[in-house]
Amino acid sequence: MKLKIAVLAGDGIGPEVTREAVNILQAVAEAGGHEFTFSEALLGGVAITAKGTPLPQETIDTALDSEAVLLGAVGDNKFNHLTPDKRPESGLLQIRQILGGFANLRPAVAYPALAENSPLRSNVTQGVDILFVRELLGGLYFSQPRFWNKETGEAVNTMRYTRDEVVRVARIAFDLAARRRKKLTSVDKANVLECSQLWRATVDSLKPEYPEITVEHQLVDSMAMHLMNVPRNFDVVLTENLFGDILSDESGIITGSLGMLPSATIGGRINLYEPVHGSAPDIAGMGKANPLGAILTAAMVLRHSAGLEQEAAAVEAAVQQVLTAGHRTADIAGRKAAVSTQQMGKLVHAALAESIDRSQSLHAV
Ligand code: IPM
Ligand code: MN
Repeated sequence: MKLKIAVLAGDGIGPEVTREAVNILQAVAEAGGHEFTFSEALLGGVAITAKGTPLPQETIDTALDSEAVLLGAVGDNKFNHLTPDKRPESGLLQIRQILGGFANLRPAVAYPALAENSPLRSNVTQGVDILFVRELLGGLYFSQPRFWNKETGEAVNTMRYTRDEVVRVARIAFDLAARRRKKLTSVDKANVLECSQLWRATVDSLKPEYPEITVEHQLVDSMAMHLMNVPRNFDVVLTENLFGDILSDESGIITGSLGMLPSATIGGRINLYEPVHGSAPDIAGMGKANPLGAILTAAMVLRHSAGLEQEAAAVEAAVQQVLTAGHRTADIAGRKAAVSTQQMGKLVHAALAESIDRSQSLHAV
């Protein structure tokens, strides 16, 4: 199969982790005779520095000319003095809007090999396999009015949702739950917010169409607690934009490191793939970053844009194998010696190559 991938590596550790993800995609393409092409473009702080804007037109063109967009990370402390609309992050928010994906899938899987990395007891994290579905184009991030009036000392952001916006993301969550353990937890703050009452009523209105799915509603504050206390109780977790941003970072505690978490945004014109972690400027360029979040994101590209489910699973298995063999980047090393970003990428590549060889010789038999 053919796939045109736009690569927006972004800021900080973005380029170094993205390089490892691209290497893995190239390995899969070579082994399977697929044709993946990669075009790079600037996004975020690097784009401000080079072009004066976080999302240059060339980047938009490259992204819209692709079939999947692979993003590294965006954000640079150099631009902290700028208003939100001028910062590197605004480039990310704009490209999300342009690509149109509204359902951001953020799996949080507890790898047994990393059980000791979580501050939670291993009997709490054991077997955790959650899929967050975060609404990505609405709520406080995008609704109008929004402003900060420095004269009057007033600032406003607006949380707005329409029924249609909730329906479309909820359907994706229901469909995903149907293919998993058939449980959907919808997160809101319906005891305080009208937006959340709409959210809850809309999710409930879809229940008759999905009789096999068990639906529960959780208030976001108690969800934050349950997520640490009984994470195994959750299968698919549906949230509005900001709640999902917060809870998905929290789920990094379960997996042992934020550096392990991938994401895919689907439902729009072009899918967008980005690890959950940020640009980590403090360790940028030092080879300390964990590329596994980006590599697992590459697996999501294979699954959701290339239709290569087996290959996606093989990449995930290779990650698991490398962790089981004891290899660690600094964020998950604890008292063990750490390997570099690049070495970790090579280790996954080698494990993947081995499993591809094995399956090819099986086919040959
Ligand atoms: C994320 C990030 C972004 C978000 C920022 C960088 C705009 O935190 O993808 O979780 O808030 O969506
Ligand atoms: Mn976030």
